[in-house]
Amino acid sequence: MLQGRKILLVIGGGIAAYKCLDLIRRLAERGASVTPVLTAAAQEFVTPLSVAALSGQKVYTDLFDLTDEAEMGHIQLSRAADLVVVAPATADLLAKMAGGHANDLATTLLMATDKPILVAPAMNVRMWDHPATQRNVATLKNDGIAFVGPNDGHMACGEFGAGRMAEPLEIVTAIDMALSDGPLKGKHIIVTSGPTHEPIDPVRYIANRSSGVQGTAIATALATLGADVTFITGPADAPRPQGVRVVEVETAHEMLEAVQKALPADAAVFAAAVADWRMAKAMDSKIKKDGTGAVPVLEFAENPDILKTVSQMKIGRPALVVGFAAETDDVIANATAKRLRKGCDWIVANDVSPETGIMGGAENAVTLITEEGQESWPRSGKTEVAERLARRIAEAL
Ligand code: C5P
Repeated sequence: MLQGRKILLVIGGGIAAYKCLDLIRRLAERGASVTPVLTAAAQEFVTPLSVAALSGQKVYTDLFDLTDEAEMGHIQLSRAADLVVVAPATADLLAKMAGGHANDLATTLLMATDKPILVAPAMNVRMWDHPATQRNVATLKNDGIAFVGPNDGHMACGEFGAGRMAEPLEIVTAIDMALSDGPLKGKHIIVTSGPTHEPIDPVRYIANRSSGVQGTAIATALATLGADVTFITGPADAPRPQGVRVVEVETAHEMLEAVQKALPADAAVFAAAVADWRMAKAMDSKIKKDGTGAVPVLEFAENPDILKTVSQMKIGRPALVVGFAAETDDVIANATAKRLRKGCDWIVANDVSPETGIMGGAENAVTLITEEGQESWPRSGKTEVAERLARRIAEAL
């Protein structure tokens, strides 16, 4: 899939820069051509000579190099590639990108490019967790920039946590996805996933059980077919999908708001286990036991039904709206009624009775309910279910 593809690789100044040598080799093996750009700091970690030797390409380092500008101007350089990859993306590079700085060749290319950008962050765990970095990451994701990693693990600085650059092969997979010419290329698809948490007080909340594994697999499968995916997730345990725009939310209200902000879309898949109710009024301070044995009475209010709201939009409704029905009894009858009640096009129905082991497990057995009728899919891994659903969506759009 990478044969003949052109990648502009911006190498930032971090210890993980050494992994870029392997990345270049792996990309070259797959037939991609890599044009490397080194920041000044990157040259402290890898030499232009080793990068040039592995890539077989001229290495660019300087914004004001008259020879380079005569051969290929920096604007042209930023446009000649199919994809711009930043690896390692240091905290400093992410900050410059988020702030729109253009004070060296790398940042100028990132500002000037009209091509998709994929970044592989790498930094110390505290730098990654720092609110400034997290703000910058959120800004960049919002700008449509794709991320791969960082991973958890031991770091060169001796600490442990999130901040390790994704491995070269993971970056290759993310590049594959970003460059995919699949049947969903050019289609924007919203996927909701995970539970929502509805606060009772600052320390307690109401939630449905949801690992987020099926939603994550669906987002990955759609992105692999080339879709531009906005993945809106509640606080789920599953690792976030790579190569998609991730929006983290907590409550049903926030999820609805994020969905509305992400529209328009060609399709929307609502796999989230949204809490049906929230507290009519969440408490600002912790509800205390008063020692008398009196129990608090919780007053609920109904949450917005995101699937129904979007399904019944008069203007700007996605062409295909897919809902889920996790049922424990009369699965097909309930799911068929739900499709009509909500107004969505398809319902993916599954039996989540405890004896099926589906909830929180690796497998799923679903029945797809459409206007034409129902089709039962054999029980298989959540990844296979996701891939099958993604292929069906591609056929329908
Ligand atoms: O009504 P029920 O919760 O069983 O419907 C399940 C489907 O509706 C799922 O697709 C779920 O993501 C969606 N849903 C929603 N907003 C809600 C409740 C459910 O989008 N408040």
